[in-house]
Amino acid sequence: MIRLEGQPLVKMVDIEKKFRAVQALNKVNLEIQPAEILGLLGDNGAGKSTLIKILAGVFPPDGGEIFFEGKKVNFSSPQDARTLGIETVHQALSLVDIMSIARNFFLGREPTRKIGFIHLLDRKKMNEECKRAVTGLGVRVRSTDEFVSILSGGERQAISIGRAMYFKVKLLILDEPLNALSVRETREVLRQIQKVRESGVSVVFITHNVYHVYPIAERFVMLDKGIKLGEVRKKDASAEDIIEIIATGRMLNK
Ligand SMILES: Nc1ncnc2c1ncn2[C@@H]1O[C@H](COP(=O)(O)OP(=O)(O)OP(=O)(O)O)[C@@H](O)[C@H]1O
Ligand SMILES: [Mg+2]
Repeated sequence: MIRLEGQPLVKMVDIEKKFRAVQALNKVNLEIQPAEILGLLGDNGAGKSTLIKILAGVFPPDGGEIFFEGKKVNFSSPQDARTLGIETVHQALSLVDIMSIARNFFLGREPTRKIGFIHLLDRKKMNEECKRAVTGLGVRVRSTDEFVSILSGGERQAISIGRAMYFKVKLLILDEPLNALSVRETREVLRQIQKVRESGVSVVFITHNVYHVYPIAERFVMLDKGIKLGEVRKKDASAEDIIEIIATGRMLNK
């Protein structure tokens, strides 16, 4: 029987990237399906962040092609990727410490109000909308006027995830979102990620810890030293199988 797969949201084909002598990515292929959580796994230096930075428009690949909703794309900036609905929370968190929670939430997409010919930031709207979005994710913030620097790691992730949901993105990329989080915060952020997926968004969850992503992802792609080792579905592989693949650099013969 022929199985018809729907069109993937993202298709990356033969992606190559070199940093001087380091082949960070060697002809890597990656597909992301609509409304799935994909675990992108591999040890330090595997090329995970480099691959998603290319998808987020941070820098171009040296070779290969990217298709978004079936159309070939060439991003020359992160803004190009965001315009299409790709939101990335980078490994070094993309929040500005000395700005308020609400300013961070709207960063680059601030609502304005007009007084005569002058456009002013609509702070009231920013605070109200931000508070509603963040509270909707189950995070209690006293005031969205406060600096981001007062927030815990989990609360920061919630602002980033809430921002992605509010702006109705199609793809949310999270690079090591659980780093430095407490057990309780980890559980909370995992719940938020599932909520994002339930709203129809695809999520790429990058981590070197299989146990972080295994409970919530349906599919896993493993990278090692710039090479894609393979991919597995949850129904075909346990978390221990995935660790084995990464540790030995070989797919299992099952
Ligand atoms: N901007 C850069 N300049 C030079 N080399 C880089 C740059 N970014 C990444 N690299 C190199 O490319 C390789 C892949 O790095 P990358 O950050 O993609 O790995 P990673 O899988 O995200 O690792 P980690 O789990 O440590 O975050 C590494 O050898 C790294 O040193
Ligand atoms: Mg990384």
